[in-house]
Amino acid sequence: MPLPYSETVMEHFKHPRNVGSMEDPDAKAVEGSPACGDMVAVYLKVDADSHRIDDIKFESYGCASNIATGSIITELAKGKTLEEAKALTWKDASDALGGLPPIKTHCSVLAVDGLRAAIQNYEERHGLVSEREPTTVEVVRKRLKHVMNPVVGLDLVRTKLVTGIEVTDGQVQIAIDLPGDHQFANNIREEIREKIEPLWDVHDVTVRFTG
Ligand code: FES
Repeated sequence: MPLPYSETVMEHFKHPRNVGSMEDPDAKAVEGSPACGDMVAVYLKVDADSHRIDDIKFESYGCASNIATGSIITELAKGKTLEEAKALTWKDASDALGGLPPIKTHCSVLAVDGLRAAIQNYEERHGLVSEREPTTVEVVRKRLKHVMNPVVGLDLVRTKLVTGIEVTDGQVQIAIDLPGDHQFANNIREEIREKIEPLWDVHDVTVRFTG
């Protein structure tokens, strides 16, 4: 049976460009797909004056389409300014790959979301966010939808692990319905901090395990 992938997809899958983690990145993001539970991490080095992406790397815990899209989207983004890279879409990635089967759309969306989240992370860390909305419980909940519950590969909110969110004067408290000695407790705490701490008006994030 012929594979449903173009030659370009197969080539990028077998020889992905810009793959791996990065020491001391200027920004990073991990995004998960609710559609399949896979994840992608994107790391950036950005020139502080020109805001050009000097280097970019990705790690994929997804399928062949996700690896191929991560490879192509990092190639497309490298050398672009943050504004130019933000404009890249999953369609650009899919076109550059010679098309992806429709059932695999979410895989390319995931890679592009990873790139956008890493850019957002850079902007938040460097005070480049122009629309400064105050952080609310809803803002925090939205971000927690991007933190995976590794036990089932779905996000913390969908799997109902978030039992409380409080936001007061830049202090964010989050209650998670897992025991503190759970094997993934530390990972989850770290990922929550990575997502919430960059918010411009947040000074402190506390994660309590209440299970
Ligand atoms: Fe999960 Fe492709 S099936 S990323």
